Amino acid sequence: MSLMSGHDGSDGSAPIEQLRKFVFSSKINVSGENREEKLEVVIPELLQATYSFYTWPSAPVLAWFLWENRQELPGKYVVELGSGTALPGIVAAKLGARVTLSESATLPKSLAHTKRCCQQNKLVINQDIRVIGLTWGLFLSNLESIGPVDIILGSDCFFEPANFEDILVTVAYLLESNIDAKFLCTYQERSSDWSIEHLLSKWGLQCVVHDINNLGVSVGLNIHDLIGDHSIHLLEITRKS
Ligand SMILES: C[S@@+](CC[C@H](N)C(=O)[O-])C[C@H]1O[C@@H](n2cnc3c(N)ncnc32)[C@H](O)[C@@H]1O
Repeated sequence: MSLMSGHDGSDGSAPIEQLRKFVFSSKINVSGENREEKLEVVIPELLQATYSFYTWPSAPVLAWFLWENRQELPGKYVVELGSGTALPGIVAAKLGARVTLSESATLPKSLAHTKRCCQQNKLVINQDIRVIGLTWGLFLSNLESIGPVDIILGSDCFFEPANFEDILVTVAYLLESNIDAKFLCTYQERSSDWSIEHLLSKWGLQCVVHDINNLGVSVGLNIHDLIGDHSIHLLEITRKS
């Protein structure tokens, strides 16, 4: 990950922007030969702005998991919730999934920035990727228009306990009409008092935790270099069987 360039908006009209580069790579063995596969994604971030304009530590963890499981993605219908700068969704789209990014319908500037992140990575809106307003817990017609879903993504959506149930209600609703779909989400532990366990049970959901420690080991990545001191968990939530 590196910072590439920036402009400081010295006319006072625009917040400082930086371009942050994320590189995903793997060593694979093809007919006895070691080959490297690589994907680069560049995310524009606005400093001094609110939380949807910045890539949170949870996002590269989820993106690395998608990268390492990329054989699952081509043709899959993917929806990302609370996308912000949308690193996981953009990675999924680059790897062949049919992706719909979503961001709160009440935050038009954030939605515009999500679109800009797509354009920066040469993803044409409404052709290579869709971006929609979707506010957790609100069941508007745009939720219906999503169509089939195989994978729901969410990076650092559980940052405010008041929203936890709205997120899981939205997920439960999507899983009701897509019974084999899964919600892959990264959760940054901010307080040991916070829990989603009772809400999972209330909404008929179950959860497994994926180990993140081996992500990127084939290319010498230490995932903890990406997440620093944060405690991040990768959860896979499905309908209770
Ligand atoms: C902590 S940020 C995470 C952003 C991004 N997923 C990441 O990991 O870098 C939380 C995101 O959720 C979005 N959000 C907050 N409340 C929301 C709501 N009620 N409905 C939909 N999105 C919401 C924010 O705009 C923001 O993009």
